[in-house]
Amino acid sequence: MADSSPTNKPATGTGTPSKVGSPKSAGSPKSAKSPPKSPPKSPSEASEAAAGPSTDILPPETWTEIGSDAGDVDSALGDDDEGSTASLTASLLEYRTYHGRTYHSNVGNAQYWGSNDERAAEAMDINHHMLTLALGGKLFLAPLEKDKVKKAIDIGTGTGVWAIDFADAFPQTQVIGTDLSPIQPSWVPPNLSFEIDDATQPWTFRPNSVDYIHMRYLLGSIADWDALYREAYHTLAPGGWIEHYEAAPYLESDDGTVDENSAMGQWGKIFVAGSKVTGRSFTVVPDGVQRSGMEKAGFEDIQTWDFKCPIGGWPKDPQLREIGLYGRMALETDIEGYVLFITNVISGWSREQVLVYIAHLRRELRNNAIHGYCRLRVVWGRKPVKSTATANA
Ligand SMILES: C[S@@+](CC[C@H](N)C(=O)[O-])C[C@H]1O[C@@H](n2cnc3c(N)ncnc32)[C@H](O)[C@@H]1O
Repeated sequence: MADSSPTNKPATGTGTPSKVGSPKSAGSPKSAKSPPKSPPKSPSEASEAAAGPSTDILPPETWTEIGSDAGDVDSALGDDDEGSTASLTASLLEYRTYHGRTYHSNVGNAQYWGSNDERAAEAMDINHHMLTLALGGKLFLAPLEKDKVKKAIDIGTGTGVWAIDFADAFPQTQVIGTDLSPIQPSWVPPNLSFEIDDATQPWTFRPNSVDYIHMRYLLGSIADWDALYREAYHTLAPGGWIEHYEAAPYLESDDGTVDENSAMGQWGKIFVAGSKVTGRSFTVVPDGVQRSGMEKAGFEDIQTWDFKCPIGGWPKDPQLREIGLYGRMALETDIEGYVLFITNVISGWSREQVLVYIAHLRRELRNNAIHGYCRLRVVWGRKPVKSTATANA
């Protein structure tokens, strides 16, 4: 791909971020039967590769002892009722607040580590743009046939940005986005609605009633992935597709420029350490959870697309550079919202330690000599055409 404009094919998904294929070599997402040429070739290999040298996390005082000019780090104050949907009760809008950032109110047993305020919403929307670029403008990779998708669900829809685009592209499809937080806009396509729902509770959609289920970036939110896939299987109609997008928690490099003890090198470890307390894993990609969960539930024709998503403006290739710049923008827009709950609430870091860590991270993200990337993985599979509602136990 000679320029940075989106194409009909996803950006090169399996090479290093410094290489991008021509339109021909970019190719279609790799199937399970034709695994990617470069690592990770299998979930277990991905696990080793993405796990990094060790899981040791530096103590939080490291960052304040090293010292840093934290002056450029904003403390964000978010509005707590932006974009609420009309059907919500007031209690859903009683968000919890930590250091000026808001988090979802109590819905079932759910626990989500990210903020739900305006700044977090902005980061989600930039992330959506970055991912759409990486996918060459595609909104999905499963082989959906427009006239056969009567009903689609987006689990953990966030701002609903994907669901809005999908509803526009599939005007005859009834699209439902669910989330813990009412942060979706009310001005949406007529075939789209939003529901407040905890995906970790038994789903209330009718069995065999949905043709496509989309899930994106639920890492750190789900205690029992197998149960989630079982619910999806139960809800899908025979022949319906599930598609699940996740990111590894780690920032890595192929050339050693992301040092293990740097702020970027510690990023993933901070989340993994936090998840030991919350019991909700961030290592969905390295652990191969998407494929194994779908297989266990009974899905077939499972396929995978892997992408090393550059973070920053370091790639020479213009298309990857654009993706990297948006990746960095998504991260920088709300670093605090990403780490505040995990570091401060779960792990007991002081506010100062968090802010100084963020200042270090920002500086590294701006350094083009550091070639960081994050592994993204999309897995999609089909409920057998001849099947009952019930998933494998
Ligand atoms: C990182 S955001 C991703 C949002 C959206 N899928 C996207 O890609 O733009 C994760 C979303 O999942 C939601 N979430 C987390 N746990 C959930 C649960 N148990 N049930 C429903 N939604 C959940 C959060 O509220 C948040 O909006």
